[in-house]
Amino acid sequence: MGFPAARPRRLRSTPAVRRLVAETTLEPRQLVLPVFVREGIDAPVPIASMPGVVQHPLDGLRKAAAEAAAAGLGGIMLFGIPAHKDAVGSAGTDPDGILQQGLRAVVEEAGDSLVVMSDLCLDEFTDHGHCGVLAADGSVDNDATLVRYAEMAIVQAEAGAHVVAPSGMMDGQVGVIRSALDESGFSNVSVLAYSAKYASAFYGPFREAVDSSLKGDRRAYQQDGANAREALREVRLDLAEGADMVMVKPASAYLDILRAVADESDVPVAAYQVSGEYAMIEAAAANGWIDRDRAVLESLTAIRRAGADFVLTYWAGEAAGWLRAAR
Ligand code: PBG
Repeated sequence: MGFPAARPRRLRSTPAVRRLVAETTLEPRQLVLPVFVREGIDAPVPIASMPGVVQHPLDGLRKAAAEAAAAGLGGIMLFGIPAHKDAVGSAGTDPDGILQQGLRAVVEEAGDSLVVMSDLCLDEFTDHGHCGVLAADGSVDNDATLVRYAEMAIVQAEAGAHVVAPSGMMDGQVGVIRSALDESGFSNVSVLAYSAKYASAFYGPFREAVDSSLKGDRRAYQQDGANAREALREVRLDLAEGADMVMVKPASAYLDILRAVADESDVPVAAYQVSGEYAMIEAAAANGWIDRDRAVLESLTAIRRAGADFVLTYWAGEAAGWLRAAR
């Protein structure tokens, strides 16, 4: 009988050798925590479809930012939920709007140790729930929305955002935001472009998280999950318009896109492990069907392996704790 000449199992045989040869690293600095701050509440409001995630009042947000910094996270991404929504998303450009208040609080609390990022999109602020302003026929008006995004970029930068992250998938958004920032003296503020953002069922729980009233879907501006080349085109356009970093979203169902984008781009690549990815693992774990902590770390490692330099994940703080404990 012939024995195998090659025995890959040797390099899997002990924890020490597995650690020695691991190709992919996962470190707290590679994790970014998305957080929700809501106007007009004084206690955290749980998000039922995202167990363990809450809408924060301002002081709770401060605490979350301090904890994120203490956990050694790379950054924090803010989403604001205003008390009043309207057709053009006025609260998104109000210098005293909740997102801007949140940014100022987080920058003050943890701005030296965390990269403070701001979601730049209108859907949290509009009463119809779309990512832009609507034309007379009810479609999202690309160029009218760009004007609003430019205004948002400036108020977010004034509030101290280090990075603005346009997520609305309007054509030309990165270029308009870059010029608005530069013309207003914010040439140091970076743009993290949600370049390849797919129209996804995995954003479901997020709609609850931001009290969205969206009816219908976002397929007329977010990408079709059937397309891969289109993602590379979006990345190229965003880089030409001045994006400092690019993102793929969602993560787990789009790991092939993430790999392709990482191979193509010469800027840092982020991936967003979205609300539905979080909810799926939490729900399975709550039923005792899956080992929660292992599933979380496995999913994060897969996202890193596929090419993400950093990952936005609702488990960022907790995962960072496990990673520190495992060292
Ligand atoms: C848009 C935005 C969305 C998410 C992040 N930014 C919602 C959407 O595009 O429909 C989803 C994040 C998640 O599901 O965790 N502002």
